[in-house]
Amino acid sequence: MNNLLNKIRINLTAVLLSYDLNDDVQFIISKFPEVDLQINNLVKYKEENFFDQLLNKFQTILEETNIFSEIKSSDIGFLNLSFNHSYLSNIIKNSKDELETNVKRTLLFDYGGPNIGKPLHVGHIRTLNIGRSLYNSNSFIGNTVKSDTHLGDWGMPVAQIITYLEKNKISPESVTAGDLEIIYPKASKEYWDNVDFKKRAQEINKLLNNGDKNLYEIWKIIKNISLENLKIELKKLNQNFDYWYGESDVNNLIAPMINDLVNNKKVIKDEGALISSENVDPKILITKTDGSYLYITTDLATVLYRKKYLPYDKAYYIVDSRQSLHFKQLFSSINYFEFSNAEHEHIAYGTINDAKGNPFKTRDGGTKSLNELFQETKNYIKNINNNIDEAILDQLTNSVLTFSDLLTNRKTDYKFDLEKFTNINGKTGIYVQYAQVRAKKLLLEIGENKKDLDSLVLSSIDKDLLSKLYLFGYHLEQCVQLSEPHHLANYLYEISSLFNAFYEEEKLNNITNQEHLASKILILKLFLTTSQNVMFCLGMEPVERM
Ligand code: ARG
Repeated sequence: MNNLLNKIRINLTAVLLSYDLNDDVQFIISKFPEVDLQINNLVKYKEENFFDQLLNKFQTILEETNIFSEIKSSDIGFLNLSFNHSYLSNIIKNSKDELETNVKRTLLFDYGGPNIGKPLHVGHIRTLNIGRSLYNSNSFIGNTVKSDTHLGDWGMPVAQIITYLEKNKISPESVTAGDLEIIYPKASKEYWDNVDFKKRAQEINKLLNNGDKNLYEIWKIIKNISLENLKIELKKLNQNFDYWYGESDVNNLIAPMINDLVNNKKVIKDEGALISSENVDPKILITKTDGSYLYITTDLATVLYRKKYLPYDKAYYIVDSRQSLHFKQLFSSINYFEFSNAEHEHIAYGTINDAKGNPFKTRDGGTKSLNELFQETKNYIKNINNNIDEAILDQLTNSVLTFSDLLTNRKTDYKFDLEKFTNINGKTGIYVQYAQVRAKKLLLEIGENKKDLDSLVLSSIDKDLLSKLYLFGYHLEQCVQLSEPHHLANYLYEISSLFNAFYEEEKLNNITNQEHLASKILILKLFLTTSQNVMFCLGMEPVERM
C-alpha cells in the first residue's frame, strides 16, 4: 500500500480503538464517478450517540493530509473521498519510496522445479510466471529476495535413465538433451514392464545414494547435459534463478537427518519404514520400507540446507495445487521436527488447459512442451504483424505467455486461447505493450516539459488516470500480501485502457493552454513509469517499438 494511505489508515484505526472499537479501517476503491476511495467502517456505528464525534475526528484526520480535495459523508455513514490531484502528482513522482515496505524481510522463492531428462512442459509456465512475478514484486517493495529452482536431479528417474544407457550400451558422453527426452519416457516404461530392469534401476539408485564413484560420474554427465539445455530454454523465456540447487545437493544431509530424528524419537519404525511420530491423520511417511527416500524426505533436508546456506524469514513454494497434501505434511513436519522457525507457504495454482478446455497435448497425444507453445505463440504473432524484428517478437511472445497466464486468479484453471490472448484490442499482453509504446512515441514527439507547474489543469479523463496511477500501491499490496499477481495484471490493463482514452481525447499538439499541456505531459510521464514498474513486477519487458 502507499505509505501515506497506510499511515492514514493506522491513524483512523487508532480513533476507533479510543472508543473501544476493535475494527480495522479499510480503504475501498470506489466505483462512483469522481469518487476515488470509500471508507465504510463508520456505517455500523451510525446509531451510536458518539457517531458525530467519531465522524468529526475522521474528517479532521482526512483533511489534514491534503491528499483529498473532497470528503463527503452519506446519510448512513459512508465516507466518499476524492483525491486532490495536484497533491497526488507530487507524491507519485517519488513513488518508489512511497511504496517501500517498512518491515523488510528476506524471502526465498522455490519455483520452476524442472526435472532432469524431462523437457519443460506447458504446466511449468504457471510456476515460472507466478514465481518470477512474486519475486520481482517483493524485490520492488524492498524485501531481500532469493530464488532457488529445486531441480529434480536425483532419485529413481535418473537411475532409470542410467539403467537404460547401460542396458543399451549407450555412452553417456554421446547423449544429447534431445536424446534424454526420448530416453526418459522409454526408461520409465521399461521400469514397470521389465522386472530385471526394475531391479537394476533400484540397485543403481541405492548405489548412487551411497556415493558410488563411477555412477556418480555418469550422473554428473547427464545432469550437465540436461541443465545446460534447461538454462537455454529458460533464458528464452526470460527466466533466471539466483540458485540452481537440486535434490542431489541435499542427498548427503539425509542420512544424518534421519539418524537425529530416530534418536529424538521424532520418527518410529513401522515394518521397516519410518513414520513421523507426530499425532496427525494420515500419518506422515518419512522413508519407505526398503529404506529409500521420498519426495518429502528431500524437501525436509532442503529446509536444513537452506537454513544454513540461504537463510530466510519466509519461503514460498510455487507449486501445482495437486501437491497440497505434500506441502501440508512438509510444513507440519518442519514444525514438529523443530527444523526452522521461519514461515513456509505453498502458493498453489490451477491447471492450464487448451482452448477447448482439454489438457494440453501434442498432436500424437504426448504432453506439450513449453518450447512448442512458445513457437506456436510466436508464429501466431508473426502472422498478424509480419514486419516486427525477431528480438521484439520474442519479447511480445513472452508478454503474451506471461500476461494471459497471470490475468486469472492463480487458484482457478484456465483455457489458453491464442486468438483471444493476442488480440490487440482485448485484455492482452499485446494491448498493454502497445499502450506504453504509444506513450513513449508521444513523449518523444512532444518533448519534455521545461516549464514549472503551479497548478494542474485537468480534464475528467486526466483525473481518472492520475487517480489510478496513484493507486498502484494499493494493487501492489494485494499482489504481495495475497501472493496473487492477477491484481497487478488487471491493474495494468486498467491503466493502459485509461491511457488510451487519454490519448484519444485530444491531440497534445493542438493544446494551446500551456498549463494544460504541461499537466498532460506530466501524466504521460507518470503513466510510462508506472506501466513499466507494473510490467517489472509482472515479469514483463517493455518493448521499444511495435
Ligand atoms: N520437481 C517437482 C515436480 O516436478 C517440483 C518441485 C517443487 N519444489 C519443492 N521444493 N518440492 O513436481
